[in-house]
Amino acid sequence: MSTDSNRGGAGNRKTGKERGGGETGTHTGATGGAAEPLLRVKDLVKYYPTERKGFLGGRRGEIKAVDGVSFDLQRGETLGLVGETGCGKSTIARTLMRLEEPTSGAAYYKGRDLFTLSKASVQALRREIQMVFQDPFASLNPRMEVGQIIAEPWVVHPGIVPKEEQRGRVGALLERVGLPAADAKRYPHEFSGGQRQRIGIARALALQPDLIICDEPVSALDVSVQAQVINLLVELQAELGLSYIFIAHDLAVVRQISDRVAVMHLGRIVEVGGEDEIYARPTHPYTQALLSAAPAPNPVGRKERKRIVLEGELPSPVNPPSGCTFRTRCWKAESICSEDRPQLIDRFDHGHPSACHFAELQTLPAAGTA
Ligand SMILES: Nc1ncnc2c1ncn2[C@@H]1O[C@H](COP(=O)(O)OP(=O)(O)OP(=O)(O)O)[C@@H](O)[C@H]1O
Ligand code: SF4
Ligand SMILES: [Mg+2]
Repeated sequence: MSTDSNRGGAGNRKTGKERGGGETGTHTGATGGAAEPLLRVKDLVKYYPTERKGFLGGRRGEIKAVDGVSFDLQRGETLGLVGETGCGKSTIARTLMRLEEPTSGAAYYKGRDLFTLSKASVQALRREIQMVFQDPFASLNPRMEVGQIIAEPWVVHPGIVPKEEQRGRVGALLERVGLPAADAKRYPHEFSGGQRQRIGIARALALQPDLIICDEPVSALDVSVQAQVINLLVELQAELGLSYIFIAHDLAVVRQISDRVAVMHLGRIVEVGGEDEIYARPTHPYTQALLSAAPAPNPVGRKERKRIVLEGELPSPVNPPSGCTFRTRCWKAESICSEDRPQLIDRFDHGHPSACHFAELQTLPAAGTA
């Protein structure tokens, strides 16, 4: 069996890649004059009804999983979505895939609103938007050979690859993700976690998508294997012009692949920007707290960085705080923070959007968290 350690490409950073199109990715001064984004998400809201009725049998409550999220994704760009567990990252992914219906909002893919498409059109669109999941073992049918798993999308979308060419195409896809073509005859349990993720990526590539939504694709892998899988995604992007939404809860992981990073808190994006902006000049207290908790790579960074310990529980999405949802844990909160929901807007002339009334530039050591 092949191993992960002899696979994967060069260094573990996305180097020498042009930064992706729009400046901010929100509609707040976003892509002024730039080409139409591949994907534009506008005020996406997804509420789930709570299981039980409220106090004294009152109305059912709502879990505000996603509560007004907007962003743009340019062609060939990677947007990292990062935030604590339960902040709504996977819900965004699932609604964009139409695996769940949004409560409100719009998402324009190549100008077409994903949320108003018929079932048949959604099926056709699945060719262009694919997903890679956190747990490749759970998403690969254990009773199917790897070759069948990779070829399965061609059954759902007939006519894309003629039957007689499928075996050769499966072999080429396996080799493209760093596995031998002969692995097509094996079963998922015969592979390591990293190899299974490569198989998941090969399956996602089978329909030649334009956009891949990667939901925590490396979170279950060892650090060295994480880097290899990320390198593979970066190489494929350069070669095939793919766009990614890359979801993770770890700012350091997201940094390795993203052109821009959107930091989420309780169903909302609270700060979005390029690497320099988020990692070296964060302005939102929540981003600053997350970065302060990440291990600094060198002694200078360690000395200069002051750890911010967040006190209090992460609030419930059933009953989120009024105004700024971070206010119950924010050391800078003032009365306006409970009265007025801070908009995700550029708070400095040449800064980047931040949803904080008291956004403040913080300059961190250049080495950041990598
Ligand atoms: N099908 C569902 N029914 C009810 N509530 C749900 C459902 N799916 C998600 N939620 C709730 O919505 C909120 C957001 O969940 P989501 O899975 O999107 O978070 P996440 O950011 O992906 O978290 P994680 O990092 O743990 O994967 C959570 O409070 C979750 O419990
Ligand atoms: S708006 Fe207020 S509570 Fe929210 S992050 Fe800014 S200072 Fe803190
Ligand atoms: Mg998730």
